Amino acid sequence: MNLKGRSFLTLKDYSKDEILYLISLAAELKKKKRKQPVDPGVHGHLLAGKNIVLLFDKTSTRTRCSFEVAAYDEGAGVTFLTNSQMGKKESLEDTVKVLGRMYDGIEYRGFEHSIVEDIAAYSGVPVWNGLTDDDHPTQVLADFLTAYEHLGKPLDEMKLAYVGDGRNNVANALMIGAAKVGMDYAVATPQSLLPSASLVDGCRMWAAENGSSVSITSDPYEAVKDADIIYTDIWCSMGEEDKMAERIELLKPYQVTASLMKSTGKETTIFEHCLPSFHDLNTSTAQMVYEKFGLKEMEVTDEVFRSPASVVFDEAENRMHTIKAVMVATLSDTLKF
Ligand code: CP
Ligand code: NVA
Repeated sequence: MNLKGRSFLTLKDYSKDEILYLISLAAELKKKKRKQPVDPGVHGHLLAGKNIVLLFDKTSTRTRCSFEVAAYDEGAGVTFLTNSQMGKKESLEDTVKVLGRMYDGIEYRGFEHSIVEDIAAYSGVPVWNGLTDDDHPTQVLADFLTAYEHLGKPLDEMKLAYVGDGRNNVANALMIGAAKVGMDYAVATPQSLLPSASLVDGCRMWAAENGSSVSITSDPYEAVKDADIIYTDIWCSMGEEDKMAERIELLKPYQVTASLMKSTGKETTIFEHCLPSFHDLNTSTAQMVYEKFGLKEMEVTDEVFRSPASVVFDEAENRMHTIKAVMVATLSDTLKF
């Protein structure tokens, strides 16, 4: 498998074999990292001599730290670029042509998906999507690696039920990823938050090719039947903070509760969430929601979030291993194919 020179903008551009390859490369790199404290000789050089630049138009904890740690682990230099001229005194096209002369790869997180596509079109180097309004492909690699580690069966024998805002970046990316690897995908979401019909059509086509299904319902209990994974995300994504009142009204029935977890009919169902999550009152946003709307927990109850079924911190760690795999696969001169 040779992915050298490829951008990673969406899983739509990747085949089942390529996605499985990235996940297994991540698992290998994770094993290697675990050996490092006892055997410093295994420290990585797969990105030695490379430099990457990270552009963030939205906030981040996991994604930024994953790119930085992954790059350092394999010997690359990193610039976290804030206050650039881009879009203010210099066009995106000119800016990324400059960045492409200095860096071997560019990560971008921001709003319109077309921005990350433009960066890939003009920069001349691999570009990695760190989240846009429409997609979050690196998240899905981590979610799938985590599911494999916990469930111990092939991805194409699993069912994932996504409950909540059915058309946000994470939901879209999961639906694409599931269809591509042959995992059954069910989304429970209100009528006004359905994924776009064209994306659903595309995913149903890939799912059919890979022997799986994409189903849509407004009933969370119907969606989670037989699910191996119940997944949710926050109700207002970055940039949608002004929609809090309407989303609470719409999505309150979609909160992931212990009763929903039990309704899969499987003892082994895991709970996944990309994080950050509003499962308690320990953030200023959750406090504001509590004072204004009287809600102590939002998309998932604290009970489920902290339960043994919850694998959310494994997912968070796996962001780093999977992002490392994406960079190594698309940049490394020394990776053996
Ligand atoms: N899951 C995720 O992308 O987290 P950050 O927003 O912290 O990067
Ligand atoms: N849907 C969320 C994901 C955060 C990782 C957002 O865009 O804010």
